Amino acid sequence: MFARKVFSRFPPNKFFLTARKYSKNSTVNLIDAVAKVKTESKTSLHNVHLGQPTPHTHPHLLDIGEVTPGITLTEYRGRRLKLLYKIKQYAVDTKSEAKHHIVIVPSASKRYMSDKIPYVFRQNSDFFYLTGCLEPDSILVLEIDEKDITKSTLFMRPKEKHAELWDGPRTGTVYSPEFFGIEESFDVVNFSNVLENKISKANKALSIWYDIKNSPQSNLSQIINSCAKSQINSPTVFFHMLRLQKSKAEINLMRKTCQIASESINEVIKETKVGDSEHHIFALMDFKCRMKNASYLAYPPVVASGNNATTIHYINNTQLTKDGDLVLMDAGCEYGGYTSDITRTWPVNGKYNTAQKVLYDIILTLQNELLNTMLKDGGDTLDNLFDTMCLKLGKYLQEIGLISQSLQGVPLAKAAYTFCPHHVSHYLGMDVHDTPLISRSTKLVPGMVCTVEPGIYIGLDREDVPAEFRGIGVRIEDDVYIKSANEIEVLTAKCIKDTSEIEKLVGSKY
Ligand code: GLY
Ligand code: MN
Ligand code: MN
Repeated sequence: MFARKVFSRFPPNKFFLTARKYSKNSTVNLIDAVAKVKTESKTSLHNVHLGQPTPHTHPHLLDIGEVTPGITLTEYRGRRLKLLYKIKQYAVDTKSEAKHHIVIVPSASKRYMSDKIPYVFRQNSDFFYLTGCLEPDSILVLEIDEKDITKSTLFMRPKEKHAELWDGPRTGTVYSPEFFGIEESFDVVNFSNVLENKISKANKALSIWYDIKNSPQSNLSQIINSCAKSQINSPTVFFHMLRLQKSKAEINLMRKTCQIASESINEVIKETKVGDSEHHIFALMDFKCRMKNASYLAYPPVVASGNNATTIHYINNTQLTKDGDLVLMDAGCEYGGYTSDITRTWPVNGKYNTAQKVLYDIILTLQNELLNTMLKDGGDTLDNLFDTMCLKLGKYLQEIGLISQSLQGVPLAKAAYTFCPHHVSHYLGMDVHDTPLISRSTKLVPGMVCTVEPGIYIGLDREDVPAEFRGIGVRIEDDVYIKSANEIEVLTAKCIKDTSEIEKLVGSKY
């Protein structure tokens, strides 16, 4: 099915030949070469197949003006400009001498699980956010100079007949300026020449921004290191600052991905019966999400029955469910590049037993209280929400005798943490654990999206807990949009979580 290695290549395309001819003696002329080819090949995107869906080839996925579902070329251009002005402002604020900035953002690279067998490709979220380009092994270079003149350059894999025969069309350098709304495009093999040229033409007070330590294209670091004459700083925190507060279009995508996952989970609950395997429940969730047009599940889901639910990152999903088990499923999907992240816990036989119901109701009550606390005292940052969660959980567990009445304050919160040893929230967006460089002690402001996910996990080995509570794991996780200074929208509200509703729904398909 996959190509054998070929030693003779098809002739390189016209641009590549021209660029190479011009680049022999002078890299300066390389830019002129591209400009020349661009005018020679005036394009129309109507009749061409690019390396990703376009409104012309995939009108069922994209409207005119969109680069990726729901996100327009204008929005992508705005993001790039915002980033450049933000970096420029940072330099001013920190009294840096830099007047000219070059930001380099690599795409993800194609990866292989074994010989010529690729993993499913997923774009680097920062590169995706700034370009909408879904191709591997590409590079974005953004520039802002002392006069605030900006430029975006995309380095793309060249059009290459043989490769395209096997892997499908590539966008190449000719069509990418028009499709992505960038100023210029080069063959990625010319990256170091063009970068050297840009550096040599730049103001001496130049700052280069590139995340050497976390680059998805490791070979780039060496090239950039050898071209750069100044210190290289990571721009990633600036990407995350922008991604933290979602635009209207992004929120609509978040609503969609959360709606797909919510409805899918409800349908999975409806089809659950005793004896189902965790693996089949996973498959059902995957199927339901894809049939509602999600690209794929956002992460390997946890489908954990019985005591397996007390292993927080249980993803083996190999066990058969038994009468009397709860099943905890943590699953979400990706739609248009945006992720959902939901957890529900339901009894496979349709009835919570007494101990299960006691623990479930504690977590549900606690989760609803946290949702009501958000944006107020004790919930204006994710870390505050976590502190509130630990204290409240501690108090509820004291009420049912699982934690000593003598504890209060920090010791009580610590005791509760042994039952729920994870944070209660993370930011959510293009990545499941979105914008991880943004501290969870940041004040919540409109446009942010986060999860609220308290849980309780009592392993079989917790001999300090009455036997009826052992082997039970419960988590309830919803996704929340901070809509205004005092209003939240639970994006996953359609996914049922009240015990009576769940009990009615389990297995009701049959
Ligand atoms: N699904 C991963 C998480 O909830 O953080
Ligand atoms: Mn989560
Ligand atoms: Mn989750």
